[in-house]
Amino acid sequence: MKQETRDWYDTPLYYDIIYDADTREEAALLEHVFARHATPGNTRRMLEPACGSGRLVIEMARRGWSVSGFDGSAKMLGFARERLAKAKLNARLWEGWMQSFEVPTHDEARWSPAFRRPGRSAGSKSFLYEDSDACARTNEHSGTAGLDRLKAGLQRASSAQSSVEVPASASQAARSESSFDLIHCLINTFRYLLTEADAVSFLQRVSAALRPGGLFVLGLHLTDYERTSCEHERWVMDRKGVHVVCNTRTWPADRRRRIEKLRTRLVITHKGRTHRQETVWDYRTYDAAQLKRLLRTAAPELEVIACHDFTYDPAATRNLDNEYSHLVVTLRKKK
Ligand SMILES: C[S@@+](CC[C@H](N)C(=O)[O-])C[C@H]1O[C@@H](n2cnc3c(N)ncnc32)[C@H](O)[C@@H]1O
Repeated sequence: MKQETRDWYDTPLYYDIIYDADTREEAALLEHVFARHATPGNTRRMLEPACGSGRLVIEMARRGWSVSGFDGSAKMLGFARERLAKAKLNARLWEGWMQSFEVPTHDEARWSPAFRRPGRSAGSKSFLYEDSDACARTNEHSGTAGLDRLKAGLQRASSAQSSVEVPASASQAARSESSFDLIHCLINTFRYLLTEADAVSFLQRVSAALRPGGLFVLGLHLTDYERTSCEHERWVMDRKGVHVVCNTRTWPADRRRRIEKLRTRLVITHKGRTHRQETVWDYRTYDAAQLKRLLRTAAPELEVIACHDFTYDPAATRNLDNEYSHLVVTLRKKK
């Protein structure tokens, strides 16, 4: 069978089928940490950098949040807009890069309302396929790690903008009206930023966009630099006649370059036709000390106040150390 090499994010449906399974648990954990750790306020304004197919945008909008999000992939955004329209929900979505994002100021036109035409090219098929809620899941992963191993992204973002300047002050990065109560960036998306400068720039922009007492929730996989063999995982998911098998391989990290290489192979069966596609990309690596150092230097006003894991169980708290690698770290902006 022919195998295509392509960016997985050019096929948002297959991304969404694989990742949607945990959406409700992730949303519930976000609400839990917000209720528990944010300084009380009157608003529920949320920003999701690199919001992808919009699974969390939609879930949080459904829960009554005023949601904003951006992504570097027009195709992922197109899919998110269609899902919003189908669910008759609103969110403000725009195209942007994590390392250089700004929150639009006068953006009536950018609100992605339920009834706006989705931004896809004429003649193209819908990104959607039937009802996204009808996702049945079979988990056949073989390692101890969860789906997060798959959760990687676009190298092109960092390579295209590797010389993004770090804002001189946080206030330059965000406009006054962008005081969000909650910003989140889960499932390793932060690790798509391959340089220290991009990571610093992103964190400073996030901090600037948060109101004092607001939360930033960061989900990422810490790297074990001692690992010398490849890791493999396998996931099988179905949604309304689309069957997706996802196999990943993660190579041992290059400690000096702070890079971990990952390959995803998808086998998709839809309407009797099967095809394969492969994506290879890099992650930036962090152990606990490297992450703490980065947070301390890039955005000292963000304090680590809680840590959970990729089970998204509010009761399962962790420490920010190397004991457990799949972390969801909650930071609060000092007043
Ligand atoms: C693993 S998905 C996460 C999507 C979404 N946040 C979620 O939880 O399902 C990664 C997303 O990050 C986007 N992405 C990768 N690097 C980016 C960057 N530097 N700036 C903006 N978006 C980026 C990709 O287009 C993709 O939609």
